[in-house]
This record gives sequence, C-alpha cells and structure tokens, in this order.
Amino acid sequence: MCGIVGYIGKNKKAKDVVIKGLERLEYRGYDSAGIAFVDNNKLIIQKEKGRISNLKNVVDFNNKANVAIGHTRWATHGIPNKDNAHPHRCGKITIVHNGIIENYMELKKELENVGYVFKSETDTEVACALLDYLYKKNNENIKNTIKQFQKLTKGAYALGMLCDDDLNSLYAIKKNSPLIIGTNNNENYIASDVPAILDFTNKYIVLDDGEFAKITSDSINVYNKNGNMVNKEIKTFDGSAEDINKNRYDHYMLKEIHEQPEVTKKMIDAYIDNENNSFISDMPDLSKYKNITIVACGSAMHAGLIGKSLIEEYGNIQVNVETASEFRYKKLFIDKDTLVIAISQSGETADTLEAVKIANDSGCDTLGIINVNGSSIARNTSKVLYTKAGPEIAVATTKAYSAQVTLLSFIAYNLAKNSKDINEIKEIQKFLTDLNKLPILMQKILDNEEEYRQIAGSIYNNNDIFFIGRGIDYALCMEGSLKLKEISYIHSEAYPAGELKHGTISLIENGTPVIGIVTDKKIADKTISNIKEVKSRGANVIYVTTDNLVKDGDFYDTKVTIPKTNTLLQPLLTIIPLQLIAYHVAKLNNCDIDKPKNLAKSVTVE
Ligand code: G6P
Repeated sequence: MCGIVGYIGKNKKAKDVVIKGLERLEYRGYDSAGIAFVDNNKLIIQKEKGRISNLKNVVDFNNKANVAIGHTRWATHGIPNKDNAHPHRCGKITIVHNGIIENYMELKKELENVGYVFKSETDTEVACALLDYLYKKNNENIKNTIKQFQKLTKGAYALGMLCDDDLNSLYAIKKNSPLIIGTNNNENYIASDVPAILDFTNKYIVLDDGEFAKITSDSINVYNKNGNMVNKEIKTFDGSAEDINKNRYDHYMLKEIHEQPEVTKKMIDAYIDNENNSFISDMPDLSKYKNITIVACGSAMHAGLIGKSLIEEYGNIQVNVETASEFRYKKLFIDKDTLVIAISQSGETADTLEAVKIANDSGCDTLGIINVNGSSIARNTSKVLYTKAGPEIAVATTKAYSAQVTLLSFIAYNLAKNSKDINEIKEIQKFLTDLNKLPILMQKILDNEEEYRQIAGSIYNNNDIFFIGRGIDYALCMEGSLKLKEISYIHSEAYPAGELKHGTISLIENGTPVIGIVTDKKIADKTISNIKEVKSRGANVIYVTTDNLVKDGDFYDTKVTIPKTNTLLQPLLTIIPLQLIAYHVAKLNNCDIDKPKNLAKSVTVE
C-alpha cells in the first residue's frame, strides 16, 4: 500500500533510479506518483495523478541529481490528485510516506493553532508540518526532531525524508510499515520492498519498528528510538532482477500462474527429504494443540479454508478460519492450547499483523506461513514456515496462494503421518510419491491453456458468473470467484452447492455461467444434483472435475477434466483452470490485469 524509493549516490542519476524503483513498486499502489530531487542544491518536486508513466513523462531525465525520493500512492486520505500525491513539503522538510498517522486530526488542529496552513487532505502533509515544527523547536537538530516525532505520532509510517539544510543526507524513519535500506559501493537506497532496488543491488538492511537512519552515499547510521546507534545485519536477497521481469509473458499474472510447477518443486526441495521419506526442515509438531485458528485476508484466507479442510480431515484437529479484520474485534476463545496460524504472502498485511499481536498477547503460540523473508508478520510469530514462491508482482495472487496451500497440506500430512490411524489412510501412505508427481501434472494442465481461453471466450460478456461446490471444492470456488471478480470486474459469487436453492438460484437465468466443481467422489452425486438444478433453469454450466470420476450426462455445457491426484494435493491442480479462466476473461475484457482498479498488493492499512 503505497511504495517508497529513495537514492543517494555518486554513480547514478538519482531520478532514473527512483523512477525505475517506483515502477518496480507500482503493485503497491498506482493512483498517483511523485518525486523530489536535488538540482544544484535546490529541491524540486514533481507529481502527477495516475500511473508512474504519467510522472515519467513530466520528469526531466537530463538532470544529474544524486539524491531523490519518490512515491507511488494508493489513496487513503483524500482522492488521488496532484495535491494529495507525495512528496509533501513544509518549510525545510520534504517527505514521502507509507502508512497512516492515526492521530493526524488532533495534530493538525494543534499545528493550525500555531499558524500552519494545509493544502491537501492527507495525514502525510500533517506529518511533514509536524517534522518542520519540531525541527525549528529543536534548534534544527534532526535527531531530536525525529525522536520527538516518533513520540507524538500514533499509527504506522515508513518515511523517506530530505532536509534542505543537509541535502547530502537522506533520512528513513519506520514504525509498523515496511522499510528497507539497500546498499552498494558509494550508493545507498531506501525502499518499501527489496524488488524496488533489485536492478541495482541485492544487499539490504531491514529497519525495525522505532528505528531511523541517516544515510549518505557512503554511510548508513541506524538509531533506535532513544537515538542510540545500532548495528544492523546486511542481508542478501535470494533472487535477482530477472525473477521480477515479465520475460516472455504478456502479464505478470500469467507468468506467475505458469511458475506454479517450479514453485512446487522448490517447496519439495525445501521441505522434503525424499530419501528418508520425511521433512527436512523442522516441521513443527502441532499434535499438542487442541485447536487451531487461522487468521488471514483475501486469498490467504481462502488458502486457510483449504487448510481447515485438510487439517480437520487428516490431522483431526479442529480449525477455525477467521478473516483477520474481524478476528481483531470479536470475542475470542483462544488460549495456550490454541495455535494461531497467520497466512500472508507479503507478511505486511496490517490486519493480519494485528491479529498475530493479539494472539501473542493471549498466550497462544503463533505460526506464520509467509512468503516475504523477514517481513513484519514473520518477525512477530513464534515460528515461521516460508513459502518459496519468490517475488509475486501481479496484484492478484496465484503462485503464492498455491504455495500457501502446499504448506498447509504438508502440515496436514505431518499430523496424519504421526497419528495411529496411518495404516487406514491410503492417501497418507502415498503422499510423498504423489507430491513428487505434482509439478508434472500441474504442467499438463497449463499446457491446456487454449481450452480455458475458449471457455473464457464463452463467458466474458456476462454480467454475473457463479461458482458452486461442496467441502474443499467450495473453498476453491471462493478463490476462483475472487480471482475472476478482482481482475475482470465481473460480478461473481461462490456458493456452497447445497445452499444454492436457498437464495442464489433465483439469480440464474438463461445463459448465466455457473462453474460447478466436483473433485470429491464421496459427495460428487450431491453436487451434480445441484448442478442439474441450475442447468434446468437455463445456466451455462462449466463442469470442472477429475479424470477418475466418470460421471456424465446432460447436466453441463462444457467439461474441464483435470488429473486426479492425492486428496491432500488435489486443490493445487483444481485451482489452475480457475486462475486461467479468470485471466483470459479479464484479458478479453481489456482489463489492466496486473493492476486492477482500486486494489493494491500489500495492504498495510487497517
Ligand atoms: C490484498 C491482495 C490480495 C491478498 C491480500 C492478503 O488484498 O490484493 O491478493 O490476498 O491482500 O495479502 P497477504 O500479503 O497478507 O497475503
């Protein structure tokens, strides 16, 4: 949610670096953008509404500035326009900001009382004025200014700051919003996320909450909230700029869908010792917990629903799945016997992070299933299992979602394997063999892309598209429906197949597309009966099923057959046609697939 980039160095044109970095961060927000750079010891600010490309058109690229900060925005306070866009400037202070200053209205009143006048509706302009006010009050001592700023502000912020009195320094301040410092010979960077700077360096420092840094081209000094210098580890990012390029694909989303077999292989390599038929990494033993609560948002929550099915069925532990933003404000029934699992691609989603903090405070063990190493949620959970999806750029998640489901199937398998019923569960005995075959089966489905494109062609003109299924297939319906609506803007709902007749069926008209998913033999006939109910009311039925289920008849218009695999792994195959149908529906509607309107990849506001 909003992206920040800054550069200070002797070798490159700061504006080029910052614009490139902003382009890499555009997935975090894309409704307006701006840059501040130093030209002949004078600070210049340029901002534009809309995408980075609009900003790029107005920025003069001949300028040799070697200090700059930039911002790409996802509006929270005030509409996307030039006034509300960052950087904001007040007196000698210029800032870019990610996060929300919660007490900005009180601070604004106090600042207005001492003569400050505000042009924008943003909390950021208030933060900037406060920094200017404190700078003057502290006899232009920047360290004391930042320390006091941190005491007076509530909420979340990652700030990049320039001060007119020392334009050879760049400041970074962090609380509750991600901020890293990249480093290379005689060049340093700040950014919301490592991919922003991967074209230039893969060495970085993670700022912790309450820390701030003074950065020059050849020095990085990091201070804690008391102003004492702290030593920070320089980390190396496991990945390169190549990983975050689109390569031969039209969109990141398509590339990421196609990366799923490779991600699955990486997950197998990271977690499974095939020779010894066991887990390499210290997969935690969850059998001691009486129940599990999964907290997450969006697709990560949908992955949690798959996890619930698998862990309850095979691990025999009751699982509740809670939307993190709801979990935070309801009466909780969790204690030391509850394990709270937080699932998050970014590891920065504000509601999920807060849910983890509540779980920690309630005395629960917390386990993070996280994609981004060292992210805030990873640092706040008692144990982390990393998904190995690599950087995911498209706003609509695909490969990170399936990596989350993979890890949840590992957890369910681990619980089941240690249970005394093992000999009775055939699926468990052959789990590892089936897991090793999974990337090939995934590839087989991907090779059928033309089939899914044709299905998309038959439904992309409709106003409503429904998904129905039972049990784990219903959880998949929810993800399939979310994928479709978030990128194509077509209204879509997922419904438990048996519940359809209690409401949604009244919406079925001649030609309404209904995607019916049937992968579980035990309940196949029941779901097929529900599919027949919509078919007889005129629905255009797309029937998604597995090759072992020979259930045929005149209840569908189009059939998608996917390979049958281990029940614990089946969702990882079933989801792929749904992702590809959503992708092609959006493409046929000329939608901006990687950057859907109003959305952002990483939601660091509550
Ligand atoms: C945003 C994204 C979704 C994602 C959700 C949770 O809304 O657009 O694709 O599922 O956040 O993100 P997380 O990083 O916590 O998995």
